[in-house]
Amino acid sequence: MRQHVNPLSRYFNEIERIPSLTKMFDDSKLNLHLDIGCAAGEFLFDLALVNTSWNYLGIEIRERLVKTAKSKVLERDIKNLYFTFGNANNILDDIQSKFIIKNVKSISFNFPDPWFKKKHHKRRVIQPEFINILSNLLQKGSLIFIKTDVKDLFNYMDCTILSNFNFKKIDKNDFNYSQSFNPNKVQTNREKYVIENHLDIFESIYIKI
Ligand SMILES: C[S@@+](CC[C@H](N)C(=O)[O-])C[C@H]1O[C@@H](n2cnc3c(N)ncnc32)[C@H](O)[C@@H]1O
Repeated sequence: MRQHVNPLSRYFNEIERIPSLTKMFDDSKLNLHLDIGCAAGEFLFDLALVNTSWNYLGIEIRERLVKTAKSKVLERDIKNLYFTFGNANNILDDIQSKFIIKNVKSISFNFPDPWFKKKHHKRRVIQPEFINILSNLLQKGSLIFIKTDVKDLFNYMDCTILSNFNFKKIDKNDFNYSQSFNPNKVQTNREKYVIENHLDIFESIYIKI
């Protein structure tokens, strides 16, 4: 079990600014998906290599993982994938990075760190202020995907997102994945582990209205 990184540490106050879309991607006009807490990025590599009509951006707080992922992107010469390092809450709250939220079609929070103790809930990546920023900047019709194996965390995230009246839950059974950032339902590393170990998965999709 790895030690979780405390996102509220002062170390993350300094942020790595997200470059312009044209600097990050070969074709900046493609649909953009943002994966928050992407770890080493395997999920995004799997997606980007197959779905060349989407751009993918991963944000991760563990610097070493981002450095390795960035070098793999260069080595493999992948033009629709970019990684950035830091606390997603601070990065996306930055005035210069806000353009990114305006341009994303969808955002995923896959198996975020649960921070079980009540006094640590403020370290969870989904926070009311963060959802408020997203709701102010996302275009209507943009989607948020959440997935976790921790029921309490799911309830917390679900309640936090729905407390913002600009988001509505979509019935995921009616959702057409073929048009989404993940048409082939690629699984994240944590998801593979959860499925192999027959644990429950709690997930929801929300639309900005
Ligand atoms: C349990 S792992 C899940 C990784 C991956 N999404 C998956 O499903 O396999 C959660 C990841 O989120 C990252 N993380 C936690 N808080 C973060 C934050 N505030 N900003 C960016 N990344 C964060 C952690 O470092 C970790 O890599």
